[in-house]
Amino acid sequence: MATNQRQGLRLGNIAPDFKAQTTQGDIQFHDWIGDSWAILFSHPADFTPVCTTELAEAAKLAPKFKERNVKLLGLSCNELKSHGEWIEDINKFGDVSLSFPIVADPKREVAALYDMLDEQDLTNLDSKGIPFTVRSVYVIDPKKTIRLTLTYPASTGRQFDEILRVIDSLQLGDKNKITTPANWTPGDRVIVHPSVKTEDAEKMFKNGVEVVYPYLRFTTL
Ligand code: BEZ
Repeated sequence: MATNQRQGLRLGNIAPDFKAQTTQGDIQFHDWIGDSWAILFSHPADFTPVCTTELAEAAKLAPKFKERNVKLLGLSCNELKSHGEWIEDINKFGDVSLSFPIVADPKREVAALYDMLDEQDLTNLDSKGIPFTVRSVYVIDPKKTIRLTLTYPASTGRQFDEILRVIDSLQLGDKNKITTPANWTPGDRVIVHPSVKTEDAEKMFKNGVEVVYPYLRFTTL
């Protein structure tokens, strides 16, 4: 049975800093993030079908990420020239103008740092048997803390609206002592954080608190 001894990056870890070439110039990752949130997301390879649909979708949603103070940064192990040529295809396919940088990581340095290579996933190897990057997503807050990680297989394009939804939940939870229930979307009722006593919640939340169980209390913001 295949085993994996690696300890990947975890929620709450500081996202490793790195220097990289991107389609918009060289960046030092932490400086590039600055006071924003960031999404570092990898795709297996340029000029592949699922990846083309994903990058077009990310480009389409870029204004929604910007509204939330979130910067997007793509990555694959292709060269800059390849990224540049592929972006033309993405723009034509999606009728978009891709505006965020994509890291060129042909030596797989950032990919290794972020545990984006899975040699046990035999569906995602190049012709020499070297792993492509998997579809990783890291959501990183302005303190450079990792707040969400996702890993999707090469065969399945990601749902970028879901990533937006999680960012909305995280940002709301950072401002209020709340969590968000299953299938929550902005405007829905939220859950009083378990650390808040019900008597305090009743003072804290002006719209009232519905107590279903002592541990499950809803409110609206
Ligand atoms: C794709 O983007 O379609 C793809 C990339 C690598 C492996 C399989 C599919």
